[in-house]
Amino acid sequence: MLTGAGISAESGVPTFRDAQTGLWARYRPEDLATPEAFAADPRRIWEWYQWRRELVHEAQPNAGHRALAELQPLLPQFTLVTQNVDGLHQRAGSIDVIEYHGNILRDRCSVEGIVAGRSPLSVTGLPECVRCGELLRPDVVWFGEPIPPHALHQAAQAAADCDVFLSIGTASLVYPAAGLAEHARRSGARIIELNPQPTPLSALADITLRGQAGDLLPRLLQAVRR
Ligand code: OAD
Repeated sequence: MLTGAGISAESGVPTFRDAQTGLWARYRPEDLATPEAFAADPRRIWEWYQWRRELVHEAQPNAGHRALAELQPLLPQFTLVTQNVDGLHQRAGSIDVIEYHGNILRDRCSVEGIVAGRSPLSVTGLPECVRCGELLRPDVVWFGEPIPPHALHQAAQAAADCDVFLSIGTASLVYPAAGLAEHARRSGARIIELNPQPTPLSALADITLRGQAGDLLPRLLQAVRR
């Protein structure tokens, strides 16, 4: 399974590319989600991420997240890869989630790269690394940055090995995540897409389920249980 922002939309977490509500309709990625933007104005980037963290803290997993968590023990070799940074899959009970783009609730040192605690003595008001005093940054993947190697490798392996690849709530535009379905297909997997809208993946999909994840995933779970 590969999930994207669409699965968290019904939890009130804005997607990136939906025309009216998506984050990129209001902000430009290069202004807020690049290492260059952070280097130029870390306070601005932290304010934006703090706002998004609060949204994520207030959000609750929805019926779609819960259905995937319940599906996991019913299917052999179930792997969940998510592009989402909100941790809602884990809060719904999914285990061993591969976080392809990191997690917005963690900090990591902007210099050493390791996940670190915050220094209580920050004079700038921005979070600083408890180990080295350099600025912390959200532990997410920004444009132009590599996918964490462990996630990249595990997801590629799962895509190569799977019989069925279910793509849920993603616009299938951002690589390398969007390439996972193509990789699975080349390895002989069937592709199922669940999305209210067509995407570039639709043409490759064996089955398209048009609708909302919070509606269709519980129905899929019921069908598997029967
Ligand atoms: P997008 O915002 O690009 O796409 C969200 C998709 O979810 C769209 O195709 C919608 O049609 C669909 N959708 C909306 N509501 C839905 C619902 N209730 N149920 C199912 N689907 C629904 O989000 P992603 O494809 O996840 O990367 O974006 C990929 C990456 O681009 C993100 O991880 C982020 C962003 O830039 C980074 O930050 C590195």
